Amino acid sequence: MAPAATSQKISEKDDLDATIKKLASLKPIGHSSYTGEIKSGYSGSWAEKLPETTKARYARHGVDISKGYPYVPEVDKIPKFVNEAYAIRNEVYPYVERGAKADPEKKALFGAAKEVINLTKHLGTEIVGLQLSDLNDQQKDELALLVAERVVVFFRDQDLSPQKQLELGHYWGQVEVHPQVPRISEEFNGVSVIWQDYYRAKYGLHLSFKKAIGGNAQWHTDLVHELQPAGITHLHNDAIPSVGGDTLWASGYAAYDKLSPAFQKFLDGKTAIYRSAHQYVDPENPLKGPKYVEREHPIVRTHPATGWKFLFVNRSMTVRIVGLEPEESKTILEYLFSVYEKNLDIQVRFNWRPTKEGLGTSAIWDNRASQHFAVWDHEGKENRHGTRVTSLAEIPFFDENSKSQREALGLSLD
Ligand SMILES: [Fe+2]
Repeated sequence: MAPAATSQKISEKDDLDATIKKLASLKPIGHSSYTGEIKSGYSGSWAEKLPETTKARYARHGVDISKGYPYVPEVDKIPKFVNEAYAIRNEVYPYVERGAKADPEKKALFGAAKEVINLTKHLGTEIVGLQLSDLNDQQKDELALLVAERVVVFFRDQDLSPQKQLELGHYWGQVEVHPQVPRISEEFNGVSVIWQDYYRAKYGLHLSFKKAIGGNAQWHTDLVHELQPAGITHLHNDAIPSVGGDTLWASGYAAYDKLSPAFQKFLDGKTAIYRSAHQYVDPENPLKGPKYVEREHPIVRTHPATGWKFLFVNRSMTVRIVGLEPEESKTILEYLFSVYEKNLDIQVRFNWRPTKEGLGTSAIWDNRASQHFAVWDHEGKENRHGTRVTSLAEIPFFDENSKSQREALGLSLD
């Protein structure tokens, strides 16, 4: 017979295991505001609620939604513990920067377009009269460079299949397959569904007129906690409100150029901690509450295509600057967030409306040198639905010999 002390320990361990299991099953998806149960698999009723333009897009391109829509991964495939979440893509993979060797004049891309419109001085370009599905490799390389330079590039009036969107994503890097975000179907790993109506109803995402901040309706950069964070990101919206539902982007190159040389020097070479959007149970300390995946990256990065320095922070997911006292880090980060958020001259606001009914609009942006914000002014009264593919990029680095954008372009530094 086991001594009393040993059997007490065994029973405590059993209790702990049971608690861990319970916590993990309660929150298979770690949105902090959500406490309900997630239904895995396909949703029949939501397939019916899909906007007509989305249904038509899927029908045109042979996307089968007869089993339901969207597809939520099975609970046993979703990581519940933080160590499981870390283990996803925890190994270095080779990254090829497609924009690095592209023609700086982008003759193949611009030559095929009807019009190229710069929407603001520092960021945002719209390309008119070109279907993304028709691009050849040379044009894709040039587009990668243009995205790196202009931060975000738009294409209206697109008839783009999710298959083609995924193919483009694979060309620009390793496509991120999110462990838990709903996708079109099991065949479309890597094509995430961006549908606020669905997330509000099924995941408890809180968005109202009074509190129109949450989810994508706040300044953020996607997937900064990855070992190799997001590079080129492509959202194709196939259902767009008649008014509103805009998205804003802000330039990380310009945010860096807004700082004084002395402050730039202070930040150059420093690192910060970046966290995931979702939380997981900590098996070491399950009762302490859910934990984010966290990784350390340079706070000023060098872009591998342009060679320009950019400020890599965002309010949603940059936790602290390494090596500083907590109050120092908090104060400095707050200032850096405000540089991105408050300088309207380094932002672009885009309305997604196509000129031809029934077609969609694509935004392709550099998720390294930017932040974005989806405005929720349509209040869910009109459909807004899209599919997103993210190509992960390089391991973030800082090259002390690299220049800022304005330095490189010979623009005034005042
Ligand atoms: Fe986002």
